[in-house]
Amino acid sequence: MSLVTIDHTTCRRDGMCSAVCPMGLFDRDGEGFPVFRYSADQRCIACGHCVAVCPHGAVLHTALPLEDAPLVDHNLTVSVPALTQLLKNRRSVREFREEPVPEALVRAAIDTARWAPTAVNRQALHWLVIQTPSETRRLAGLIIDYLRRISTVEPRYAPVVAQWEQGKDPVLRNAPHMIIIHAPDDWIWSSVDSTIALTQFELAAVANGIGTCWAGYFMRAANGHPALREALGIPGDHSVFGALMYGFPRYRYHRIPPRQAARIELR
Ligand SMILES: Cc1cc2nc3c(=O)[nH]c(=O)nc-3n(C[C@H](O)[C@H](O)[C@H](O)COP(=O)(O)O)c2cc1C
Repeated sequence: MSLVTIDHTTCRRDGMCSAVCPMGLFDRDGEGFPVFRYSADQRCIACGHCVAVCPHGAVLHTALPLEDAPLVDHNLTVSVPALTQLLKNRRSVREFREEPVPEALVRAAIDTARWAPTAVNRQALHWLVIQTPSETRRLAGLIIDYLRRISTVEPRYAPVVAQWEQGKDPVLRNAPHMIIIHAPDDWIWSSVDSTIALTQFELAAVANGIGTCWAGYFMRAANGHPALREALGIPGDHSVFGALMYGFPRYRYHRIPPRQAARIELR
């Protein structure tokens, strides 16, 4: 049986499924019905565009059943000013309340982030959530161990280590939690896919009152420090491609700080 079949009783022969298929896998039969091309199964990337665009539910994809593809509520709109403010008012949060973020809130943000685009719809990302504050703290110590070692050749890390030794946490900012993405090394888009997904996670998190900050020191250490990789349990054929610290923000921001004008060239 073909991966995709068309219900001729509901299909209006409008050709939309065929038009939006990124791989061009549909033909038309003599009566104008779309036909999923013979031997196209292997080339289908299961993006679901054919299913999603059809207003009549006429495209039946065995891997993407209609019951798993909820209807879009076109009345649910986000106003442009609200979205613009959300994007501009997302700040890197470095001061967190002690109150833990409930697991359900984080799961909800990850659930939104899994709709982030991935190259050829590969969806090869793994999410690692460090929920326990003491474990986040232990990871901060491992990052510092690594920075201490490399500070002999990269002296810019020496002040970071010095701050830690004074009882501060310049690497994970005493955040209660962390979220990490790891993905296969042999996929050339792992880095880009991970960054997009974490960005989408970040926005979903902010919309739910969670504060986040990209964990650059962690990302610097994650793939170079075996003890850290081991503590995280990263599989041997994966790398860490991004990480955020998160928690409930201690402070609220009341202004949007200015940024440089965009450097734009129009041709
Ligand atoms: C890739 C990346 C790594 C970052 N690493 C850190 C970090 O390790 N610690 C930190 O406090 N902020 C980190 N930041 C946050 C930046 O400093 C922050 O985005 C920038 O100052 C702008 O502030 P805003 O995010 O509040 O607009 C990082 C940001 C990015 C994009």
